[in-house]
Amino acid sequence: MRHLIAPSILAADFANLQHDIEMINSSEADWFHVDVMDGVFVPNISFGFPVMEAVKKHATKPLDVHLMIVNPDQYIERFAQAGAAIITVHYEACPHLHRTIQLIHQSGCKAGVALNPHTPVSVLKDILADLDLVLIMSVNPGFGGQKFIPRTLAKVDELKAMAMKVKPELSIEVDGGVGMQNIDLLIDAGANVFVAGNAVFAAASPAEMISDMKNVDKGSIRL
Ligand code: DX5
Ligand code: ZN
Repeated sequence: MRHLIAPSILAADFANLQHDIEMINSSEADWFHVDVMDGVFVPNISFGFPVMEAVKKHATKPLDVHLMIVNPDQYIERFAQAGAAIITVHYEACPHLHRTIQLIHQSGCKAGVALNPHTPVSVLKDILADLDLVLIMSVNPGFGGQKFIPRTLAKVDELKAMAMKVKPELSIEVDGGVGMQNIDLLIDAGANVFVAGNAVFAAASPAEMISDMKNVDKGSIRL
């Protein structure tokens, strides 16, 4: 399967969100990446249900919701109602991760687990078969526009090998500092979903950047 591009609306113009949503709708992007931050799990606050519902009203592609919040269990149902297709929770925020994954599936959404840069992929061994997606953070969560941590490549490689044994169809998503400078290396390592905030929204033409990232493995466009 071709890799997927998930532009992060965290980097969009919040005063003109509909414009940026329509750009993503008509682009080659696959998902909307929706970053929810609570100011507790991460040192930043982004947005909550009202903004997400406004995005959902205009978006024609699935909402990939990345919860950087403590106690996600109490909000899973509301995020599903607000239009999430995929809900990803942080391993570091879930003492009863198996229960949380069950809740996400019961809500009708696909379930993902995100790992901070310091968390080894080996902690997922006994839950991997129950997951639809693993999100490898390639920066410390909380802010867009940070520098990609190179160690991520080895983590993706290790996770891909683990997944091949128990869940070959697992989606492996990379989030933070992803762009034309590293997407081909990440594809080679085994990742297949790429979040892009700054790379897309700081580009002269966001839609062209999405297209370049989407078609990078066709060999026609390289930096
Ligand atoms: C960071 C968020 C990311 C962020 C990515 O905590 O999870 O999704 O928006 O932004 P860039 O692509 O600019 O690093
Ligand atoms: Zn994210």
